[in-house]
Amino acid sequence: MILQRRNRILRSSPAIRSMVAETILTPADFIAPLFIDEGENSAVEIQSMPGYYRRSIDLTIEEVKELWSLGIKSVLLFIKCKDEWKDNTGKEAWNKNGLMQRSIRAIKEAVPEMYVMTDVALDPYSSYGHDGIVQNGEIVNDETVEALVKMSISHAEAGADMVAPSDMMDGRIGAIREGLEQQHYTKTGIMAYSAKYASCFYGPFRDALDSAPGFGDKKTYQMDYANRIEAVKEALMDVEEGADIVMVKPGLPYLDIVREVKNAVTVPVSVYNISGEYAMIKAAAKMGWIDENKAILETLTSIKRAGGDLIATYFAKDAARLINQ
Ligand code: PBG
Repeated sequence: MILQRRNRILRSSPAIRSMVAETILTPADFIAPLFIDEGENSAVEIQSMPGYYRRSIDLTIEEVKELWSLGIKSVLLFIKCKDEWKDNTGKEAWNKNGLMQRSIRAIKEAVPEMYVMTDVALDPYSSYGHDGIVQNGEIVNDETVEALVKMSISHAEAGADMVAPSDMMDGRIGAIREGLEQQHYTKTGIMAYSAKYASCFYGPFRDALDSAPGFGDKKTYQMDYANRIEAVKEALMDVEEGADIVMVKPGLPYLDIVREVKNAVTVPVSVYNISGEYAMIKAAAKMGWIDENKAILETLTSIKRAGGDLIATYFAKDAARLINQ
């Protein structure tokens, strides 16, 4: 055969493949989610997330130091609230000495360079397990937004670099930006969960924080997974309201959305490779059906290739180690 073009030339050795690779993962791409609980010297493995732990603040700090040493620049904090502090207002969420606020201060003191992001939503603090305040069986929008503003300001006051509202209420990004400005937190950023879908893949996360909704589902605020164009609307509105970074969540089943949003906005796009995605890889690897390390790198590279500038992932530490090898 005489061929004009032989595409395999660029695939013929590891050297040429790495020279022409379009997508390169680095540890700075990752945001490491951390689950924090009360107590001391405690690390509890989450049943549906093997190898992932809920830690007390002291052990969380050790973890943060290790993440930093691996080249990971950012953590995203979630806390488990005690049942007796949960109510329908979510007021524990802006307690100056709450677990979240103490965690932020402790991490910023131990590893000041680590970029600390915090989850902003009422579900861990809600007696109903919903992301908002409940009235007559409905999740009310505007009252919830007021609570989210107080929560965001208290995270900023504790030293958070960026707040990450994951609740999907309308108008919360603008309200949070305004609240931060009024209190002179002009350096605190906002990473908006802009296109967050009502997904069955959040199950293991809700086990980790004991935050499953007590009634109904989250479909009146999180997006319908049938929709694509709506994600662009959400992302564009959040950017207009002041989002510094927009997020698409979940990750792997939503790569079309990632690309769509990436093409529509001029801010960085983050993608949340969520708990159910983690659990699926872990389970299949445990059965011997896939190679875990290869699955991790392929998954994260695919998310970046689709347009994810940042990836929140429970594989952050494993992936950083694999990349650094
Ligand atoms: C809640 C929140 C959820 C996740 C992040 N923030 C769950 C939910 O909306 O019910 C899911 C993360 C994951 O599954 O890894 N505001």
